[in-house]
Amino acid sequence: MPPTESKATAQQPDDHADLLAEIEASLGEGKLPLQTFNSEAVHQLELDRLFGREWIFVGHESEIPEEGDYARRYIAGDPFIFVRDMNGDVQVLFDSCRHRGAKLCRAEQGNTSHFRCPYHGWTYKNTGDLVGVPQKEVAFKNLDQSEHGLHSAPRVDSYAGLVFASLGDSGESLEEHLGEFTWYLDIQFKLPDGGMEVIGEPHRWVVETNWKTGADNFAGDSYHTGFAHHSIKQLGLGGDDTVGIAGAGETKDRHVHCDGHTTSTRMVEGEEVFMTYPDEIVDLFNPDNVTADQYRAAKEALSFTGSVFPNLAFLNFGDITDDPNKDVTGFLGLRKWRPLGPNKTEIWSWAFAPKRASEATKKRIYKVYMSNFGPSGNFEQDDVSIWNGITDVADSTFARHHDVELNYQMGTEEMSEVAYDEEWPGPGTVYAINLEEVGMQKFHDQWFEHLSTPRDGTAMSRECGGGCGSAKTDGCGSAKTDGCGSVKTGGYGSTKTDDGESPSERGRPEDGE
Ligand code: FES
Ligand SMILES: [Fe+2]
Repeated sequence: MPPTESKATAQQPDDHADLLAEIEASLGEGKLPLQTFNSEAVHQLELDRLFGREWIFVGHESEIPEEGDYARRYIAGDPFIFVRDMNGDVQVLFDSCRHRGAKLCRAEQGNTSHFRCPYHGWTYKNTGDLVGVPQKEVAFKNLDQSEHGLHSAPRVDSYAGLVFASLGDSGESLEEHLGEFTWYLDIQFKLPDGGMEVIGEPHRWVVETNWKTGADNFAGDSYHTGFAHHSIKQLGLGGDDTVGIAGAGETKDRHVHCDGHTTSTRMVEGEEVFMTYPDEIVDLFNPDNVTADQYRAAKEALSFTGSVFPNLAFLNFGDITDDPNKDVTGFLGLRKWRPLGPNKTEIWSWAFAPKRASEATKKRIYKVYMSNFGPSGNFEQDDVSIWNGITDVADSTFARHHDVELNYQMGTEEMSEVAYDEEWPGPGTVYAINLEEVGMQKFHDQWFEHLSTPRDGTAMSRECGGGCGSAKTDGCGSAKTDGCGSVKTGGYGSTKTDDGESPSERGRPEDGE
């Protein structure tokens, strides 16, 4: 049998400088080299310089409500234990014994007061403190147990129940990282009295796709819906407003870029839509939990989809069902793109419902989520078969030898009439249409800033990371990406400006102008 060649390793320049220069040149034109989506060199840089310091979503607090509740989680390849300790505090502990490194956590989730190493039996409280060493008096008499507790992720913080961790020792806070994008997260997570909770365990499945293709998709790919998901309409599971041709429907569609994150909205202005949730859920939505503008946005919304840099996505999706004979409903899902290699991603997917919803309604929401965005969901099948193809051709000899580039120029001045929405009450740069790929360009700009900045143990700061504003020596040499540079206070009719230029903004209008 002839030897088989691993596609993941039969490739690519491993000279980072050459590769980064090539990427930078493409970014300047709103493009990217195709091989970026299946490159071992890029993957290694991402692990070190992006996932090694950026704020990465770990889980939702509702997954570990009781003391001792835990679940296995990962930051890229690194294993952590997401646990509520005996003091009620949320911890993100590195899942590696301080003796000789064995993983402690053998179950996906559960409840425990202690973690005992399966190798030689060192035992840790769920706070991470080392409390048991077998045969200590003989084997480790002088061991200072207080110095050998489990390592924690250097920084852990949460917003609206969403827990993030960073492997960087310092850098911008989570609050700074999320910036004003919390205006949009509030709509998804703060609206119902009693809050939102995860239903069941997150689904996890592995696809032969580079993680950035998923991130691209949720950073504003409304363009694909009417084509890739046409079968949903044919099956009678979603209407024109949900899976119709982008820009051709009756809804008011917008794309928002805010502090390095993005969201796409479809709305029926002046109507009460609330993502087509059933009345029972809508009754839980309390205007006192958000601002008047946020409440109105939620009320008129048919859907919100979006991306939190770098690898978290959300969809609060309405007008969809699992059975053409059953009513449509909304559901809220979170997705995390966990890179397992240049051509392999583990997708994590959480379904949410208001805590106070009835069990029957939670079940219904879960089923609709499962049928459409679960591992075998209709949308999921449509998307992944296409995404796998992109990853496959990204590793082609032809792409490498002929510098094949991808085009992300939709919605730029050279390509289109660019229309901004000056009336939108929320923060960010707001496009009055959903036919633009500038949000993806901004994602790539931030991604590139990370890759081109050597890691020194710190997280990227707001000045040079998401919404970069710093002088760079080897990167794009530029300033801001999105950054929703203006402070919005929620007044209708206020304007938004960007105050800088990123590589991909060269040759296209600055947002907000
Ligand atoms: S590796 Fe854990 S006790 Fe030895
Ligand atoms: Fe899709």
